[in-house]
Amino acid sequence: MLDAPEMSDAEYDRLFRELQELEAAYPELRTPDSPTHRIGAEPAEAFAKHRHRVPMLSLANAFNEQELEEWEARNARLVPEVRRSGYTIEVKIDGAAVSLTYENGIFTVGATRGNGIEGENVTANLRTVVDLPLALQGEGWPPFMEVRGEVYLPKSRFAKLNQERVARGEPPFANPRNAAAGSLRQLDPKITRSRGLRIFCFHVEAPGQKLPFSTQYELLQTLKTWGLPVEPHFRRVPDLAAAHKVISQMEPLLEKLDYEADGVVVKVDDLSLHSELGVVGGREPRWAIARKFAPEVAVTRLLDIKINVGRTGALNPYAVLEPVEVTGVTVSQATLHNFDLIAAKDIRIGDWVEVTRAGEVIPQVLGPVRERRTGQERPFVPPTRCPECGSPVERPADEVMVYCPNVSCPGRVFESIVHFASGDAMDIRGLGAQRVAQLLENGLIRDVADLYELKVEDLKKLEGFAEKSARQLVDAIAASKNRPLSTLLFALGIRHVGSTVAKLLARRFGSLQRLMEAGEEEIAAVEGVGPVIAQAVAAFFRDEKNRALIRRLEAHGLNFTEPVAAAGPLTGQTYVITGTLPTLSRAEATELIEAAGGRVASSVSSKTTALVAGENPGSKLERAKQLGVEIIDEAELLRRVGRGS
Ligand code: IVH
Repeated sequence: MLDAPEMSDAEYDRLFRELQELEAAYPELRTPDSPTHRIGAEPAEAFAKHRHRVPMLSLANAFNEQELEEWEARNARLVPEVRRSGYTIEVKIDGAAVSLTYENGIFTVGATRGNGIEGENVTANLRTVVDLPLALQGEGWPPFMEVRGEVYLPKSRFAKLNQERVARGEPPFANPRNAAAGSLRQLDPKITRSRGLRIFCFHVEAPGQKLPFSTQYELLQTLKTWGLPVEPHFRRVPDLAAAHKVISQMEPLLEKLDYEADGVVVKVDDLSLHSELGVVGGREPRWAIARKFAPEVAVTRLLDIKINVGRTGALNPYAVLEPVEVTGVTVSQATLHNFDLIAAKDIRIGDWVEVTRAGEVIPQVLGPVRERRTGQERPFVPPTRCPECGSPVERPADEVMVYCPNVSCPGRVFESIVHFASGDAMDIRGLGAQRVAQLLENGLIRDVADLYELKVEDLKKLEGFAEKSARQLVDAIAASKNRPLSTLLFALGIRHVGSTVAKLLARRFGSLQRLMEAGEEEIAAVEGVGPVIAQAVAAFFRDEKNRALIRRLEAHGLNFTEPVAAAGPLTGQTYVITGTLPTLSRAEATELIEAAGGRVASSVSSKTTALVAGENPGSKLERAKQLGVEIIDEAELLRRVGRGS
């Protein structure tokens, strides 16, 4: 009911302000029915509509050389001459797209892109852009044309503008693109002028008229002679092989520019082929494609700092982020490593932070962008008690990690079971974090040994299980009993025992009994295993609770031995597995490769023999393609290990 408010005035004011700030930072998200339009906000109909004579198109994207090759192949099927046309490569400016109408050489109308068909008339504001010519120079321009370009705010101006805004207590702009778009839509052209917008032009539409150029390269040169600003790094290449070279030279240059560039644009050079190639879906021309470089580092807002209690009891702080794309993947959480690091880097809740996802590793927060602070950020106070069970936390001498000492802490138990079942450990298909949580909540398990006692009848009673899925899980758990000792050792989650150390120990001792009988010194003497690991391993097996767990695992018939590595068809070869394979689980594929004498690594490098890719392969596939590593499927793997048809 309208007169029965759902929230207090103060809460409304806070949310309203938050919405205003969000809309200032992300103008594209502003909806026509936003409440900010009502009270003194600029009306949506502030600018007259302008219909473009020719629609303003956007571009398809390519993220690597292969996608460019596929683009050319598709084009060549339609118009074989594209292979002989050559290409022009331009910097792709990340600003606000505009269309400039010149009639008899005079700038008459300037409009935003809008929906591509119809934009807003922002002529008065565009007139304030210093490098936009109000009258063209030179000769040869047609009586009517729409010049297409990108308005941008130089990075140096952007930094200054945000400093000024913060000093005045106004919210900073999220990025130069939003600042450019926002500045272009100011009601007062004086404000637009003060922002210092600039423009680059790259395209001409002059329907039915003669133009004094026949290639994109000549078009850009001609625009310059008319006094229109053109981004200076454009290059012409004879074919795609040359394009790949030029693009890799241009990539490192982009971030050094004083304007935001989100890639390059590759355009079929011969303009006469453009109309033959046409437009896909009324939106994207076939004759041009954006070659984007997935950013290695992105900047986003740190919304909160949360803590996950790991299987060893370690309190792992992580950042909850406003989702952002890093190397082509959307990231909404990132590790903060430990409390010392948060303090050393002075990372605060509400900060803008740099996030990276270098290589295969988990996303991490590099540090705050201090220039963007508003004073609203809150420093993080490390907890003195475990957030899961409330036990006072402990910090061992000379360790950076803080631990929950309670072995029955629900956070620790949960993580240890999830780890035990995970693809890199016992690889129990269908037993992910959600299922583990469900089994714990329903009292069906308390530790990993309980998994082997689960019955189809018990599971069937749970939400989301039917006879078939219950049986599949019980079977998957039973199948995990045969994993080699090295896998079991890793799965047990002994502190400092990763999969490599687990293999070293399993190979050296051969059986769990032998390892448990070995003294600390004997363990420390294993090549690649030092005293710290040895101490942790010996302590684990001395602990009566762990010994009891192992006795129960033995009673359930788990394998406690390590097969002797055999020489076979894959000796000397290294494989990486990614995605879901059609029939083999990851552990089964690993076992097959190792039984054939091969090695399985967790990440793709130039030393990788081949990547075994299944469904949803993720970033490893990208990496393999980049490095030119061979990519095979399950059938090919089976053939290589002598199991294929
Ligand atoms: S060509 C018909 N070239 O990128 C013209 N676009 O993501 C099609 N952009 O809407 C675009 N620099 O606003 C082209 N050198 C360049 C560009 C460029 C930036 C913008 C343009 C386009 C958007 C597509």
